[in-house]
Amino acid sequence: MKLGLEGRRVLVTGGSKGLGEAIARELVEEGALVAICSRSEDEVRATGEAIGATYAQAADVTDPEQVRDFVARSAEALGGIDALVNNAGRAHPGNFAALSDEDWQHDFEVKVLALIRCSREALPHMRRAGGGRIVNVGAVYSRMPDPTFFATSVNRAAGNNFTKALAMEVAKDGILVNGVNIGFVITPQWDNIHRRRAPDQPREEFLDQMAAQDVPLGRMGRPDEVSGLVTFLLSDRASYITGASIDVAGGMGRYV
Ligand SMILES: NC(=O)c1ccc[n+]([C@@H]2O[C@H](COP(=O)([O-])OP(=O)(O)OC[C@H]3O[C@@H](n4cnc5c(N)ncnc54)[C@H](OP(=O)(O)O)[C@@H]3O)[C@@H](O)[C@H]2O)c1
Repeated sequence: MKLGLEGRRVLVTGGSKGLGEAIARELVEEGALVAICSRSEDEVRATGEAIGATYAQAADVTDPEQVRDFVARSAEALGGIDALVNNAGRAHPGNFAALSDEDWQHDFEVKVLALIRCSREALPHMRRAGGGRIVNVGAVYSRMPDPTFFATSVNRAAGNNFTKALAMEVAKDGILVNGVNIGFVITPQWDNIHRRRAPDQPREEFLDQMAAQDVPLGRMGRPDEVSGLVTFLLSDRASYITGASIDVAGGMGRYV
């Protein structure tokens, strides 16, 4: 399949590790020019070098100034922007009783406002380029609420609505917006989930148990099983897909 991604200029937030790193790496392998950000300067620079990204910068997507700066500098380094992957984020386990206003506010900043701010900054560049793509990385909990991931469930649902509404608004500009709903994919953030939920249980046993309980395919996913779909959605072969939100979740999600 010819994806036509050579020379495509793509920003990936949260590109220093986990899914963002896998997405950025696969895009570079397809010939795209990639800019990544994350909060840790050392990590983002090291990953940028390791995967051959064109540009890497420390930026916190919950800070509007840093978002503006990252998008502007990336556009300069890449010579414009054709696509944005809103991936930065983290799980925020906790049921309703455990979550304070501050927890809610922070989760909303990461999972909703960051998508809005990064898209707002990147869209003018895509319009100048004559079209573009946005992929929002979310979670199956957006459509299958889990009270033990209460804030994630609520804020990811808002993210899916954002994907759909933005897709409708910018279709006239040739900009396609889609979402990817993740189930359980092994990345560094699972270390945090393990620490918070079952610190006394061996990590592998905890992960196997989570997968056996909730995932019809019976195993955790791999980052490359997500990056393949994101790369496809950014490619020429996905030219008639917009407003979609597609699960990469091994069958998780009891809905039709
Ligand atoms: N893995 C899963 O099973 C799963 C399930 C559902 C949804 N997701 C979503 O998929 C996305 C990627 O998750 P992952 O599993 O790859 O997590 P990860 O391994 O923890 O990686 C997250 C990446 O985002 C960056 N990041 C976090 N907060 C940021 C911020 N405020 N500003 C800029 N960068 C930030 C991290 O770097 P720094 O910490 O240095 O900033 C890192 O590069 C997240 O949005 C996550 O919620 C993942």
